[in-house]
Amino acid sequence: MEIMREITVTVNVNGIPVRAAVSPQESLLDFLRYRAGATDVKCGCNKGDCGTCTVILEDRAVKSCLVLAAQADNRRVWTVRGLEKDPLMQALQESFATHGAVQCGFCTPGMLLTAKNFLEHNPKPDRAEIKEAIAGNLCRCTGYKKIVDAIAAVAASRTGDRA
Ligand code: FES
Ligand code: FES
Repeated sequence: MEIMREITVTVNVNGIPVRAAVSPQESLLDFLRYRAGATDVKCGCNKGDCGTCTVILEDRAVKSCLVLAAQADNRRVWTVRGLEKDPLMQALQESFATHGAVQCGFCTPGMLLTAKNFLEHNPKPDRAEIKEAIAGNLCRCTGYKKIVDAIAAVAASRTGDRA
């Protein structure tokens, strides 16, 4: 039986380089949680269905269970914890709280990162665009309306429009 060789990767996680020998099949999600200590990244389905493992890889929100750690070699990853001082992330967190968009909270880190990345690319979305943007992030608790309200309110406050 052929022995799968480990490969050494360095992923910049929230501004800190994390270097480790990994199997070629190791997911970015496992790398983040078990090697980088980024336990704010949650695992739900581990097969691309729920979006709770979402992180920002360079400039793109990705489901980290679907990305190999090796694909993130020499690249930057951001999780919610690393964006605590980011003004847009702070605005989203406050808005989620005031709109009741956090109930059990399991989907919340992934939702926040998807929303932040989305608003950076589309600062003035309509509700249909917001719904489409979060379509890959499942929430079992809120019915989505409160989440869309929260994101729309942040977009409106940044562009001077009314939500
Ligand atoms: S844990 Fe990655 S999409 Fe569900
Ligand atoms: S708040 Fe519970 S899954 Fe979204």
